[in-house]
Order: sequence, then structure tokens, then C-alpha cells
Amino acid sequence: MVEFGNEIFGGSGRSARMPRSGAYFMRRTLVRLLLLLFRHTPAYTFPLLRRLYWNLQAEAINSRWGRSEADYVVIGRIIALVAPERILDVGCGSGRLYPLYQSFPFIREIWGQDIARSALELAATLHGWPKGRLVDTPIPQLAFPDRYFDLVISHRVLQHIPPGEIVQTVRTLCRISRFVYINELQDSDQMPPTPYMFKHDYVPIFTRFGFRVKESGHLGKQTWFLFAAQQA
Ligand SMILES: C[S@@+](CC[C@H](N)C(=O)[O-])C[C@H]1O[C@@H](n2cnc3c(N)ncnc32)[C@H](O)[C@@H]1O
Repeated sequence: MVEFGNEIFGGSGRSARMPRSGAYFMRRTLVRLLLLLFRHTPAYTFPLLRRLYWNLQAEAINSRWGRSEADYVVIGRIIALVAPERILDVGCGSGRLYPLYQSFPFIREIWGQDIARSALELAATLHGWPKGRLVDTPIPQLAFPDRYFDLVISHRVLQHIPPGEIVQTVRTLCRISRFVYINELQDSDQMPPTPYMFKHDYVPIFTRFGFRVKESGHLGKQTWFLFAAQQA
């Protein structure tokens, strides 16, 4: 397997911190303070504060959604269609989708990326991540060669990228992969944007980088897209 200097850890994994009640209440208070700050200032646009917020949220996200398999059928179908050898899960959180990826023997490399190190620690502990690596490099700085991946998965992640950064983020995904699957906040969700969740217009952005919609559909109220490079 090729490595690109982004590795945090892979292979056997590492132990996650167990939740302690004092730490839990401190984290909850900090999250609330940050949310207040995000609401009244452009604080979310500062990468350090954003990273802090998602680090504090990782365990809560894992307890709430870490076992959900609601999208396994759709993503499984996408994987069967694309038949990727290399897959990158951006904003992989605690690695909820890893068992699905593992069930396809033709996937040789599985990379997980997230800006929250605490989420990646959970992912390593829960899944070991034997087939790949976990990295906390911001998406625009991922140093993979062009088209290194066959498929990138972004489930409820690009929606957390501020408007000023979404174009360069998508540009990177289109550079490093042949196919990109996304499921992000859209009108169909019938939810308003928040200071940390944005409604982007994805089709024109992907089109700008030579990608077209290959498939799209709904999962409950959520809209998903599979974008393909023109030549893919
Ligand atoms: C709603 S959770 C989804 C987790 C996972 N994709 C899943 O479906 O279970 C959003 C995830 O995006 C991560 N995230 C937020 N902003 C990010 C960014 N700019 N780059 C990468 N990951 C980000 C968070 O740390 C969090 O793990």
C-alpha cells in the first residue's frame, strides 16, 4: 500500500478515552458555548474552533448514529456499481460505514478522513481499520495523486463546510477520485441551515470540475448523488 505522509494510524487500532461524567458535562457546556459563538459571530469559519467543536462532538455522534445502517443498501448498490479498489470516506466519523466497505472483498484500500481526531480514535478502536489508514488532513490539503481513488463517500459532511471553502473542497475530491457519492443537506430535508450546516448547490460545483450526475435518489427525506468524472 502506498502512503502519502498523512497517516495518523491504521492497522491494529488504539484505545479511545472512555466517557467520564465530569468530562461529559464539561464537553457539553463547551459545545453549547461554541454553538452560541457560531450563531452570533463568523467563528465557525475559523478552522481551529471548528475542529474543537467536532472533536467535542465525536462521542455523542457515535452514540447517536454510530450503529445506523439506514444507508447501507444505497451505498452498497453504489459500491457494486463502481466496484472500487480504493475508497475514501471523508468525514468518516467513528467509521460507521467501515463494516459495509469490509464486506466487499474487491476493495483493497479503505481510507478514512475526518478533522476530528477523537472521531478517528474511535474509528480505530471500533474497527481496527486493517485495510487502510485514518487521516485528519483537511480535504483541500489531501496529497493523493490524481484519480488515486475510485470512489469517495461523503455522508453528511460537505454540508458542514462553509460556503467560502466548498469549491476548493469539491475541486480536491474531483481531482483525487473517479466517482464521488454525496448525501448532504438539501431542500428535501425540510430543515433550515444552521451556523454549522450549509445548503450548497452541488450540481453546478461538480459540473465545473468535469463531473456529471450519474445517479441520484432519495433516502427518506435525504437526497443523494453519485457524481462521475466525464470519462468514467
Ligand atoms: C454528521 S457526522 C457524519 C459522520 C459519518 N460520515 C457518518 O455518516 O456516520 C459529520 C462528520 O463530519 C466531520 N467533519 C466536519 N467538518 C469536516 C471537514 N471540514 N472535513 C472533514 N470532516 C468534517 C465531523 O467531524 C463528523 O465526524
